[in-house]
Amino acid sequence: MLRNITLYAEADYTAMSVRAAAIFAEAVKEKPTAVYGFATGSTPEGMYRELAKLRENGADFSDITTFNLDEYHPIKPSDPQSYAYYMKERVFGPLGITKTNLPDGTAADPAAECVAYERKLASAGEVAMQILGIGNNGHIGFNEPSDTFACQASHVPLAQATIEANARFFEDASQVPRHALTMGLHAIMMAKRILLLASGEGKAQILAQALTGPITPRVPASILQLHPCVTVVADKTAFSAAAFGAMAFGAMAFSATAFNAAGAPL
Ligand code: F6R
Repeated sequence: MLRNITLYAEADYTAMSVRAAAIFAEAVKEKPTAVYGFATGSTPEGMYRELAKLRENGADFSDITTFNLDEYHPIKPSDPQSYAYYMKERVFGPLGITKTNLPDGTAADPAAECVAYERKLASAGEVAMQILGIGNNGHIGFNEPSDTFACQASHVPLAQATIEANARFFEDASQVPRHALTMGLHAIMMAKRILLLASGEGKAQILAQALTGPITPRVPASILQLHPCVTVVADKTAFSAAAFGAMAFGAMAFSATAFNAAGAPL
């Protein structure tokens, strides 16, 4: 039974982004100097744009400290496909955030970089809210499906499915770096609160599987079922009643609170 998940099923991508931005901004208003975990990818782009609008209207993000989930390896921060570049252009600049941390995509010793990144994160204090997207294969960060849960930060080979999914950001799939540095599942699970975003039909099955299926390293996001405080904001194509129904409602195993865009329980 999932008692720990609040699910917002929003009408479309914009509504999902507005809702997620409001939740994040509220968290920062409560804890303006806390540590926050950030994600990249297509899904949170709209939320970051909405946060920039909130900043224009007076929201202040300037005192937070951020830790990103992951970075390709090897990649230079000046490479427009790097997550460092993405964050600088779309998030840190527009939101006025200066205390930022990302794994170093240029690290000569990636294993040592993972250890150092994890230490830095641990010494920064509790992560008040961790923003997550979900991969088509159920990954969170770059913790790819595997036989075991990847607890520690690590230098990982990207799954073929991830290389193919992320090829859209590059000239072609051959340009996608084959490895990444990623925060491990332990650090993600230690965040006080998780804000998971999902958008589009392509995420419907995996989202339902992650939230209501067996907890398995084959679907890394399924570990979130064990987290005490998860908020999922999905658009209605990602929150497919059909996918959830077959796996959950039908079996009466799903007790999350789902809301529609107007805030009414589904
Ligand atoms: C990105 C990250 C990844 C993405 C996931 C979904 O920092 O950690 O887990 O959240 O690959 O990516 P999009 O949003 O592009 O579908």
